[in-house]
Amino acid sequence: MKRITLVFIIMLGILPLRAGNLLSPDKQLELKAGINNKSEIIYALSYNGKEIIKPSKLGLELKNAPSLLEGFTLKNAKESSFDETWKPVWGEVSEIRNHYNELLLEFEQKATERTIKIRFRLFNDGLGFRYEFEKQKNLNYFRVADERTEFALTGDHKAFWIPGDFDTNEYYYTTTRLSEVDASKVDGTGIGTHGYFAKNAVQSPLMMKTTDGLYISIFEAALMDYSVMHLLIDQKNMVLTSALAPDATGTKAYMQTPHNTPWRTIMVSDKATDILASKMILNLNEPSKIENTDYIKPQKYIGIWWGMHVPNTMSWDYAHAPNIRLKDTDWNALTPLPQHGASNKNVRRYIDFAAEHGFSGVLVEGWNVGWEDWAGNWKEEVFDFVTPYPDFDIKALNEYAHSKGVKLIMHHETSSSVTNYERRIDKAIELMKEHGYEAVKTGYVGWIIPRGETHDGQWMVNHYVRVAEKMAENKLMLNSHESVRPTGLHRTYPNWLACEAARGNEFNAWSSGNPPEHETILPFTRLLGGPMDYTPGIFEIKMSYYQEGNQNQVHTTLAKQLALYLTMYSPLQMAADLPESYERRMDAFQFIKDVAVDWDDTRYLEAEPGDYLTVARRAKNTANWFIGAITDENPRTAVIPFNYLEEKTWYVATIYEDAANAHWKENPMAYKIRKVLVNSKSVLKQKLAAGGGVAISLKKADKKEMKGLKKI
Ligand code: NOJ
Ligand code: CA
Repeated sequence: MKRITLVFIIMLGILPLRAGNLLSPDKQLELKAGINNKSEIIYALSYNGKEIIKPSKLGLELKNAPSLLEGFTLKNAKESSFDETWKPVWGEVSEIRNHYNELLLEFEQKATERTIKIRFRLFNDGLGFRYEFEKQKNLNYFRVADERTEFALTGDHKAFWIPGDFDTNEYYYTTTRLSEVDASKVDGTGIGTHGYFAKNAVQSPLMMKTTDGLYISIFEAALMDYSVMHLLIDQKNMVLTSALAPDATGTKAYMQTPHNTPWRTIMVSDKATDILASKMILNLNEPSKIENTDYIKPQKYIGIWWGMHVPNTMSWDYAHAPNIRLKDTDWNALTPLPQHGASNKNVRRYIDFAAEHGFSGVLVEGWNVGWEDWAGNWKEEVFDFVTPYPDFDIKALNEYAHSKGVKLIMHHETSSSVTNYERRIDKAIELMKEHGYEAVKTGYVGWIIPRGETHDGQWMVNHYVRVAEKMAENKLMLNSHESVRPTGLHRTYPNWLACEAARGNEFNAWSSGNPPEHETILPFTRLLGGPMDYTPGIFEIKMSYYQEGNQNQVHTTLAKQLALYLTMYSPLQMAADLPESYERRMDAFQFIKDVAVDWDDTRYLEAEPGDYLTVARRAKNTANWFIGAITDENPRTAVIPFNYLEEKTWYVATIYEDAANAHWKENPMAYKIRKVLVNSKSVLKQKLAAGGGVAISLKKADKKEMKGLKKI
């Protein structure tokens, strides 16, 4: 690391910078930061000598107070280094190295006698920095009108983006140059709450690729007590500026010193696979606040769920009763619908299926009163989270499940009436404890109450964390849907196993769906912040199976659905299809039964955002590896090495692949299963169909099994 020099340095010959500079541990990244000739705080970043971020301004505008944008002098600079290896409770790898060089700059705004600190951490894979406001005489309570963090890019990069929208992240991705971003052209049909806030605004994480082949991702880490950072693009100058989610008064954040912002992050690499393997976001989060983590169990689950999303199969509703009111409805007087999913009979069928095939959890949606009138009316009293429908015997069903080694998973759809949920959550948790539930799925469909708040605002950000903390106090695991996208907080709250917070598989059932490239982009965007409950494993691909003439379908082959268990990392994975779909294809279902959800080791073998991705993972405490490879709408040959396997050892590879004539649209359900032998020297050339994939399980071979198998 270079020493800090408190002198003028000329950057680009344009902006004089009084500052320090800092190198990453491997010296590939270089940060310069300080003050320009207008007394503004600026920073710049380069990678192997190549500029990545041009001198960019930092600062905030405040409500009813002078801004924190200019008039600064550098008061102090301190540098340090950190190198530690820690063990996550669950994850893609069993050990994570947190290694960075740090530069802490303190700036003083003389005219107002206020100070800001900016803490920069430079890792081998990128930069993180945040604003820190210490307790001080002239900065106590303050309100953020706008954060003006800039990311001045060096060109009109290719970007994988979704519209800036404070209420949803359930869009498909568009790939264009930054200058071509136009949120008004994106179709939000099917998303309950949507509305872009500016045509030139996009969400973070924003994945970009430069013309000379560098991958750059801009994001944030450890989002707490602050609102979500979106990005506004100056389409002429290629400068991105932070755009925070406001509340009804237009305020972006309420602060009381001492208070830090979340980390703003820039990941850079010339290898796409490095972006996927980066642990920088996790490293920027605080260590686990949960001491006893014994109750936190990565798991696979099934659920009374897909039946509600496909046509003509199941309902959340118990009865036909639109416009009901929660408090004056006599549920026993209503006539039950034959398709009510959460009926005693159906739940028992799912428990049996879970027990037979080794799933530890059964999610049951539509168990509680209120579903007859749950969405679209911005209504406050929708659910009470404690009253089961008359045909859902909560006591008997839980006892039955436990007798078979299965746990029911609770569902709290809040319909975004969050005030109502907060009022009732303690009773709701009591009910869970009484019946032995271990995990809950929450949901936030609809516009938020308190009205005027958004899914991405500070108030909601605090709500999601409050719920995670409350669940932790009660030793419960959490999976949140329609919540803010994760920013690595699962390091701090490992009971928060997964979020949806992006366009999940469900969109394929009832909308234009997720284009075949979707799953090749999510790992470069949404998944950088944490696991996604994508709900893979759909075998019955076309909705015409359920309803004649229905054109909707899952936009992948069946084999690709299997590969998603590897490419969409999550410690919580659903086998999302109906039991009867699996019963029709038990041979392929075997992969879902076998695949692990917690890993000692992960190798990203090849990847290109929007095109393809191949990953190999070793199951926790075993020698068994699993591989998943996927492609977009183009067929391709994945080249899969095995050099991570134990040397001089043969493994049986069971390959679940697209049949020769498979195609995501024409023939999505055509798959084949074959077994071959591989060792650490093997390289497999594996054909993937258009919209296809491959899933492979690898086990050390014993002599008997090797007979007759082809060696690769
Ligand atoms: C949307 C969620 O993503 C989905 O999983 C759930 O079934 C519905 N909301 C109802 O809560
Ligand atoms: Ca959803």
